[in-house]
Amino acid sequence: MRKPIIAGNWKMYKTHLEAKDLVKELKEKALPAGVEVVLCPPFTALATVGEELAGTEIGLGAQDLFWEEEGAYTGEVSPAMLRELGCAYVIIGHSERRQYFGETDESVNKKAKAALRHGLKPIICVGESLAQREAGETNQFVAGQMEKALAGLAPEEIPQVVIAYEPIWAIGTGRSSSGADANQVIGMIRQTIANQFQPALADQVRIQYGGSVKPNNIKEFMDQPEIDGALVGGASLKAADFYGIISYQ
Ligand code: PGA
Repeated sequence: MRKPIIAGNWKMYKTHLEAKDLVKELKEKALPAGVEVVLCPPFTALATVGEELAGTEIGLGAQDLFWEEEGAYTGEVSPAMLRELGCAYVIIGHSERRQYFGETDESVNKKAKAALRHGLKPIICVGESLAQREAGETNQFVAGQMEKALAGLAPEEIPQVVIAYEPIWAIGTGRSSSGADANQVIGMIRQTIANQFQPALADQVRIQYGGSVKPNNIKEFMDQPEIDGALVGGASLKAADFYGIISYQ
């Protein structure tokens, strides 16, 4: 059985003081059982959020990393730096990073390997554009992203990987995918992993849906057999909304 995982991607929102307030508010409510919850604040708030989360069951994740161990890479953050702050997860290849910061399938692959090497679980993001969806290219495009992201990983690393299927047209638009459509693509993603590695490994990989997930539509996604959680942007920035999402059951 795959344990569902719901992660909040705070993007470039919340100073470290604002982040502290948000976590405090979230901590006032009892964490629902049966779902793993992860918060991914900006780098500058990781230490503060990590301290606030100490003693809770909520996990900490970063939004990116660089694949080198250390060195003259101004502005970059290494896997070991994230581990030392208590990160268990790291988002890799978010469509905003692909669109604005030159992230490629190759860099996603290098980052995923670096994360795993350091005991960080990568949340690897894939998803098609509106034009690709309308042209009927979704499956082919997303399968290609998947194969390149996981190329060269060791079979034993596969169960550590989390995938977030995030159709670009659904991110921050209020226009979410239907549960059935997301389930179809996520089933296809699982099949791609099964083909590239083994079905028994693909069965262990948790695959989230992301894109305009809100308290009022989370259940539609969680009810789908292939969907193992959500990556939540906008609605993770308000304690009440995020709590409404994680307590979907
Ligand atoms: P959204 O963002 O929930 O605001 O659509 C999701 C994401 O980008 O991870």
